[in-house]
Amino acid sequence: MASGPDSAVTNSLVGLGGDGLLTARSVDVGASRESRRRRRLWTVAGVLGVPTAFLWYRFLVGRPFDVFALPQVDWLLVTPILFFVLLGVALIGSQVVAGRSPHVTYRPEQISTRLADVKGIDPVKDDVVRSLNLFLAHKTFTGEMGGTPRRGLLFEGAPGTGKTHLAKAMAAEAGVPFLFVSATSFQSMFYGATARKIRSYFAALRKAARQEGGAIGFIEEIDAIAMARGGISPMTGGGAPMTGWSAGSVGAGTRLAGSLFADGHVPAYLPALAAAGSLSTPMISEGTGGVVNEMLVQMQSFDAPARGQQALGRLVDAVNLLLPAQRQLSKPTPPVTNVLLIAATNRADNLDPALLRPGRFDRRLTFELPAKAGRRELVDHFLATKAHAPELADPALRDTLAGVTQGYTPVMIEHLLDEALVNALRRGAGAMSWQDLERARMTEEVGLGQPVAYTEHERRLIATHESGHATAAWLTAPHRRLEILTIVKRRSALGLLAHGDAEDVYTRSRTEMLALIQIALAGQCTEELFFGDVSTGPGGDLAYATSVAAEMVGSVGMAGTLVSYAAVQNSGFSDTNIVGRVLSDGAGRAAVERILQEQKAAVRTLLGDNRHLVEALRDALLAREELIGREITAVLEAARCSVLMAGTAPTVIDLRDAAARE
Ligand SMILES: Nc1ncnc2c1ncn2[C@@H]1O[C@H](COP(=O)(O)OP(=O)(O)OP(=O)(O)O)[C@@H](O)[C@H]1O
Ligand SMILES: [Mg+2]
Repeated sequence: MASGPDSAVTNSLVGLGGDGLLTARSVDVGASRESRRRRRLWTVAGVLGVPTAFLWYRFLVGRPFDVFALPQVDWLLVTPILFFVLLGVALIGSQVVAGRSPHVTYRPEQISTRLADVKGIDPVKDDVVRSLNLFLAHKTFTGEMGGTPRRGLLFEGAPGTGKTHLAKAMAAEAGVPFLFVSATSFQSMFYGATARKIRSYFAALRKAARQEGGAIGFIEEIDAIAMARGGISPMTGGGAPMTGWSAGSVGAGTRLAGSLFADGHVPAYLPALAAAGSLSTPMISEGTGGVVNEMLVQMQSFDAPARGQQALGRLVDAVNLLLPAQRQLSKPTPPVTNVLLIAATNRADNLDPALLRPGRFDRRLTFELPAKAGRRELVDHFLATKAHAPELADPALRDTLAGVTQGYTPVMIEHLLDEALVNALRRGAGAMSWQDLERARMTEEVGLGQPVAYTEHERRLIATHESGHATAAWLTAPHRRLEILTIVKRRSALGLLAHGDAEDVYTRSRTEMLALIQIALAGQCTEELFFGDVSTGPGGDLAYATSVAAEMVGSVGMAGTLVSYAAVQNSGFSDTNIVGRVLSDGAGRAAVERILQEQKAAVRTLLGDNRHLVEALRDALLAREELIGREITAVLEAARCSVLMAGTAPTVIDLRDAAARE
């Protein structure tokens, strides 16, 4: 420990514990950069001063150099020498280039992103500010407090959640060089060149840090080079068992359940199905082990002395050989290289565990999808620079936009607003309106409309089928938001109902799960009720209903069994998909079948009692082809009222009234 703390140290210690960001100039990074700058000035003065002084001396004593007198050159001799020199340069140069670090260095003033531009991910931002403060005041933290510097941060999260964005903001705020590299650019076709490139990158990092008082390295998509080595299990779980409350894979977001798919296939954008299969075991390519090992070694290299220091050390050793034991010189201690290395990945679970141990990438920050308040901040942030109609300045409308963009990443929100601008341009306006946004959202979520000429029978069938979904959704899940009901073909769906949660939700009750199944099965039931036959259309619906039922049976204990099929460890023979596991078990399959049949019977009765609602929606849909948001519920409410007024209502089971009474 150093002697009593002076006032500067006390100040930086106080700042170090706070939530605000320390300014680079006031702390250790700034101090060491300043001392470097002065030393560099002295070097420049020395290098230029000595020859200048010599030239002046010659000039003053009357013997100046004639710098324009060129020596005589014998080209016959010079040409072959030049040829061999160039040949050598080409041969050695190609080797040097192959092992060169592929990074790009950004100076802080070249980066326009600031921490204030990072919105909607406050928990991560707070932690990052703390790490940045430790980095900026590294001498105080290590020297005065005896702490170990934080060297590695791992950013994990879905694409577009702002990992690169935040890292850039960190570099700009820290005022140090930012060495950006994509992990794939380390790969090379020459044997051993990948490891050499990694070594060069770390050497460049150390050099930049020594020159500027600190440097931030950023490795994009690190999983390309740091997958678990053979025989080492990746970082999944481990440690003490934890009892957590997970949201389950039938999570939040707009659902397109109940769409009529042309080919009976379920598209990948059905979230529940996409989420049901977990990530597969990592693929190890030959040579990965060596690359990972190189990373491991290099992560430990920051305290290695620089070349000058090493030479000095050797000199001291040589002198010490000549000195008696009591006169031995001590070696200079190498200065701490202040490096912060950030790695970003979409799949941290497959990284090699040795990389994630304390001292390497020990701080793991997960970038979640922004919650509603975060999305509202993002909407405000992006709209500040994008032309919009005065109606979009209304806070209530912005709140609505934040509400309906559940499940969006920040980049998706930005893209949505850009698409709205494109829509505005297309209709000849210079600023986006709410309608442009609605249209953009529909295109984003369900694809571009591709009108096709249906036969009259098919058109009626599709309209009836979709109306069945919407009616069931309105009756069984009054808290869901009906978004789009359409019979215009979009992607592989001939028609569809998009419905989402009214609020951000992270769990589902059993009743809600059953309602999702009923909504999905409603299409087929309506076809039976109105046409006495079924079509191939509901293939996608059945796949979705099956996945929800399988989840209930095999994962969340909602169907009479508490056995979790998700607990089965992955092996070469086990199906990693929970639906597959449940269905391949006889009892599981029977339980799924039972749930589906029961819910089908229930929704069939419900729709049979509410035929008038289906008919009203079908007619509206045939007339207008597409109903959006309030338009759907308006049709349903009008139909219900007209039946009540006509006095033929007693047979209608109105679940909405029942739900309101509860
Ligand atoms: N929190 C945020 N605040 C403001 N803008 C954001 C935020 N997150 C992302 N963005 C915007 O989204 C763009 C893309 O984000 P970024 O490149 O950081 O994603 P990423 O998480 O690195 O994705 P990937 O995993 O694909 O590399 C940024 O350039 C920025 O404009
Ligand atoms: Mg990125």
